[in-house]
Amino acid sequence: MLRLGLIGHPVGHSLSPWIHERLMEHEGLEGTYELFDIDPDTFDHQIHELKDKGLDGFNITVPYKEKIIPYLDEVDSSARELGAVNTVKNTARGWVGYNTDGIGFAVSVRNRYPELFYNEQRVLIIGSGGASRGIYHALLEAGLSKIDIANRTIEKAEEVIKSASTNSESKALSLDKAVEQLNDYGLIVQTTVVGMSPNDHTAIIPLYNLKEGTVVSDIVYRPLETRFLQEAKNRGAKLHFGHEMLLQQAVYAFHIWTDTNPDASLLLEGFEKKLK
Ligand code: ATR
Repeated sequence: MLRLGLIGHPVGHSLSPWIHERLMEHEGLEGTYELFDIDPDTFDHQIHELKDKGLDGFNITVPYKEKIIPYLDEVDSSARELGAVNTVKNTARGWVGYNTDGIGFAVSVRNRYPELFYNEQRVLIIGSGGASRGIYHALLEAGLSKIDIANRTIEKAEEVIKSASTNSESKALSLDKAVEQLNDYGLIVQTTVVGMSPNDHTAIIPLYNLKEGTVVSDIVYRPLETRFLQEAKNRGAKLHFGHEMLLQQAVYAFHIWTDTNPDASLLLEGFEKKLK
């Protein structure tokens, strides 16, 4: 009997139980996925209690992805470089931390548009929060090196670039500069909260310079098709949706816990219905 869960604050609206219960069904595994809403004031105490529960693995969401690190016995090298953990596996060596957020993006975009990786397209990431950092590291690890980061506060884009140890040809840009040179990129990834429901009438930047056939991705998944993606579609872009990343990061965590290799696309249709 597999015992999984999620810690965070709040966790009530999480889609993770739905995803992991479906994955267990698909793999013929019996188990549970419990939600642990942890009050920031009692974090230390509650994490020690969680250790005693002996879960096989758990996810970590906002605001604890950094705070969990001192409680782990081992942290995988890419999660350590990122400074954030979203998945813990209980092993004979103790609690081992991983981060599947950026990998979820890289795997889902590579499954849909493998050509981006054959001929090393230039990439633009918009935004410089935790999601941007995870995606930047994962795309570098997946072999892309020409990745620019545009942000309202350019210093934060510079920090994201400095956080990766890989040598790259990355540049930090203002949003205006990104608008000007949009047609240089084969993949554009929107990672900010701009466009998220209920403020879904806005797109972070105008796309008049976008060239046809560019892959455009938005990690926002509420609404499923953001204003940014609608405008990209109108200009002939190929779209990649935020919920595919969300699903793939969960599938990758499930793979870490169970050593199975479920196909994320099996869940995609049901997941889309769930989000609507
Ligand atoms: P995450 O959830 O990925 O950790 P975060 O740390 O909240 O995100 O970062 C939010 C990102 O959205 C940042 O890149 C932020 O830009 P700044 O670094 O300049 O703050 C960006 N962002 C949020 N609101 C924005 C807005 N109204 N216009 C432009 N960028 C915005």
